[in-house]
Amino acid sequence: MNTKSVSELLEQDVTLQQVSVKGWVRTFRANRFIALNDGSTINNIQCVVDFENFDEALLKRITTGAAIHIEGELVESQGKGQNVEIVVSSIEVLGDSDPETYPIQPKKHTFEFLRENAHLRTRTNTFSAVMRIKSTLSFAVHKYFTENGFYNMHTPMITGSDAEGAGEMFRITTLDAKNPPLDENGDVDFKQDFFGKEANLTVSGQLEAETYAMSLGKVYTFGPTFRAENSNTSRHLAEFWMIEPEVAFMDLAGNMDLAEDFIKSVISYVLEHNQEDLKFLDERLFNEEKSKPQTERSEMRLIEKLKFVTDNNFKRVSYTEAIDILRNSKPNKKKKFKYLINEWGADLQSEHERFLVEKHFKCPVILFDYPANIKAFYMRLNDDEKTVRAMDVLFPGIGEIIGGSQREERLDVLKQKMAALDIPEEELWWYLDLRKYGTAVHSGFGLGFERLVMFATGMSNIRDVIPYPRTPQNAEF
Ligand code: 4AD
Ligand code: MG
Repeated sequence: MNTKSVSELLEQDVTLQQVSVKGWVRTFRANRFIALNDGSTINNIQCVVDFENFDEALLKRITTGAAIHIEGELVESQGKGQNVEIVVSSIEVLGDSDPETYPIQPKKHTFEFLRENAHLRTRTNTFSAVMRIKSTLSFAVHKYFTENGFYNMHTPMITGSDAEGAGEMFRITTLDAKNPPLDENGDVDFKQDFFGKEANLTVSGQLEAETYAMSLGKVYTFGPTFRAENSNTSRHLAEFWMIEPEVAFMDLAGNMDLAEDFIKSVISYVLEHNQEDLKFLDERLFNEEKSKPQTERSEMRLIEKLKFVTDNNFKRVSYTEAIDILRNSKPNKKKKFKYLINEWGADLQSEHERFLVEKHFKCPVILFDYPANIKAFYMRLNDDEKTVRAMDVLFPGIGEIIGGSQREERLDVLKQKMAALDIPEEELWWYLDLRKYGTAVHSGFGLGFERLVMFATGMSNIRDVIPYPRTPQNAEF
């Protein structure tokens, strides 16, 4: 007999004589009702056991967490809560569980506890819903770019250059840590290292993506990136996935249009394809919010928030306008911000970004034209020579979800900027070549995939939207 998934069985609108299903026991109530889940849907299938027909020793083994194989008849459900259920004719225990020690008991666990049991946490409704939505989002990303004429490329994870120039890279080396070879100046001699030079894990695939945009036109990379920044926040990971499109002949306005259309498209896709998971997470978040003080509660429920993003235009605001708003804002005047905004040129902290999005504009915001000296070297200098064609997309509850820019396409200007920042031309000779041979206006951005998943699922800690989070002092699993 063909084994079917729980999701397939629950979608049946006819009853069936014989069905076969495998999964893990969520609960076994009154020696009669097994709630079985196999990950294919947030819903369990109810399996009704007539205990008189089964051995007591077998029934004892049906405990939370055990893997079992059920055969029986799919009938219309007598009880409430489901349309169909299985009247069990045979039970096979595939793998026993231990009810004494199994961590995922049928009760509410804290997310902290579940993080310590991350290998089992996808056996809960919340984490299985989050990971199904994440999978859908990943597919929607590839679908969006493929349907819009982009080519997918894999940018290298090991690199010699620091794209963001922030010096937050993890070094890759095979040299002996205790006794590395030294050069004549007494410095570590990386010429003797595996790659014959210093190599690191990449912080961004952008620079390599630019090379392909300048030949294939429209490309995107979607892969892991690494940052050794010591920020132990709910929005930072040391290893996260970034989606980076890069497009030739596109300026900053086009970049903003692309970012907005892209986010709306993938969120719409999830709204359409993960309705049950979203309904569950919507309810979960609503209940969690109830325990917060009124002033800190979100004004919208999860699904409402997602629809709000797909149905409304993002507000486009220049950095200069944003600074004026922030300078005159209540929290700035009452010194409620940790970092007060006194003058033009200040770097925006997440408290400022969230004020703009959540309190002032109350919608997603695209900030653009930032001061050159707080942004990376590759961004296109504006005619004012003070600002660059940068853009950050800011989201409610998240802060920065996208960072991008129009790229500096003028060889002389780019060289000047690199010199000012002590970035050696030898390191990026290939990047400069793009400006020598057929240079053109081009733009792109990076979207932090886990931050998008946080938004789509309403999870408030980035550690809860990636299977095995890597953060300072933590690389378990
Ligand atoms: O703003 P960032 O640093 O931009 C870049 O790396 C550009 N090279 C992208 C490009 O133009 N192709 O990072 C882009 C996004 C951020 O907006 C944020 O969503 C996410 O990556 N991000 C992180 N996500 C999780 N943990 C971290 N430590 C992150 N750092 C950045
Ligand atoms: Mg950024």
